[in-house]
Amino acid sequence: MARTTLIRNLDEVLTLAGVAAKDGRHPVEADLGGLPKAAVLMDDDGIKWVGSEASLSEATLRPLIGAAEVVEVDARGCTALPAFVESHTHLIFAGHRAEEFEMRMRGATYQQIAEAGGGIRSTVKQTRAASEQELLALAQPRVQKFVEQGVGTLEVKSGYGLDLVTEQKILKVAQRLKGPRVIKTFLGPHAVAPEFSSTDAYHREVVDKMLPQIAQAKLADRIDIFIEWGYFSLAQADEYYRAGHAFKLGLSGHVEQMTRTGGAVLAAQLDAQSVDHLVQVSSDDIRALGTSDTTCVLLPLADLYLRMDYPPARALIDAGARVAVATDFNPGSAPSQDLSLVGVLARLEMGMTLPEVIAAYTFNGAAALGLHGQTGSLEAGKFADVTLIEGSWRDLFYQVGHHPVGRLWVNGVEVGLGLS
Ligand code: NIG
Ligand code: FE
Repeated sequence: MARTTLIRNLDEVLTLAGVAAKDGRHPVEADLGGLPKAAVLMDDDGIKWVGSEASLSEATLRPLIGAAEVVEVDARGCTALPAFVESHTHLIFAGHRAEEFEMRMRGATYQQIAEAGGGIRSTVKQTRAASEQELLALAQPRVQKFVEQGVGTLEVKSGYGLDLVTEQKILKVAQRLKGPRVIKTFLGPHAVAPEFSSTDAYHREVVDKMLPQIAQAKLADRIDIFIEWGYFSLAQADEYYRAGHAFKLGLSGHVEQMTRTGGAVLAAQLDAQSVDHLVQVSSDDIRALGTSDTTCVLLPLADLYLRMDYPPARALIDAGARVAVATDFNPGSAPSQDLSLVGVLARLEMGMTLPEVIAAYTFNGAAALGLHGQTGSLEAGKFADVTLIEGSWRDLFYQVGHHPVGRLWVNGVEVGLGLS
């Protein structure tokens, strides 16, 4: 029998229906769909009804509920909004790279550290050595940290294996994670595997061997590639994307992070779900992204840690782009899972307004994963992915470290925050 929940006495609900109606572009406060004194009815099939408490009558509810037993939640003092969507993480890895922080402080660049055998390759070494069980034991508490911040959908990349066996192992760990909905992204071309003498040789291994096996085993929902000077070229990305598309996988890319390569526009032309980082975009790129259906995922924690410029969020949004934000959580360039810090940086350093940040972490995050038809706004028929916060949404993304999530439902089922 359906598990039906009625959240009532809410101070306010933010439906984000206006953001959805505008396809995530140019979001303003009115698009958040703030409804005072509201209630939400949902079950594991989806959102059934959202409206004001005053219009909540037996006649409204009865046909929606049928014979199901209803669990009522008294949400006085709280605001409900769509569960957050964290659309870019490298969550599954072994070991840490704290020493690189100190190296960077002494003047070494991300690329110099990588050339000296640190960076992605050092995490690869430790991740290869860890068993599936060990990686799961490391990853699940990290997932819990996101759950405690109201994340209902979590994207998880591979990319610290760089060989078929380890990439499969990472994606299998992703499959076993509990709590939020997990979207799995294959990132075989994250760096050149150490046993290959050329990028071309490793690229062939990825396209001819790894990708087909990962796709056939249905271990990934989407693919990603690091298009960057010293990593993978535009031509390699083009071939990889076409191969991934043939397997019906969603496309995404790490693009225009350190240098401009043209990767963002290439990915957008191939209907990528998302292009991520975008620090070095040109004004032509901004124009092209503004009219494309590809979501721009901005990752300010990587810019903070690498002491780089921040991406031109204001220009992208004003050009009409759909902009999402995410942590990029990883042990090197973004060793933090703090959504509040992402939002504060987006506001302070990237000129985003609070409604834009809320849209970026809900509907637009969902769009980055191709899920905006299903989640990211509270509308009848969509997944019942709901976050309850204490107090007002106006307090979000204001105080670093303060993100007062009280409860979380994913697909209508409550996910424990472990805060008993
Ligand atoms: O998104 N840019 C490439 N990949 C990651 C960094 C991964 C790492 O340093 O381990 C990023 O910043
Ligand atoms: Fe990343």
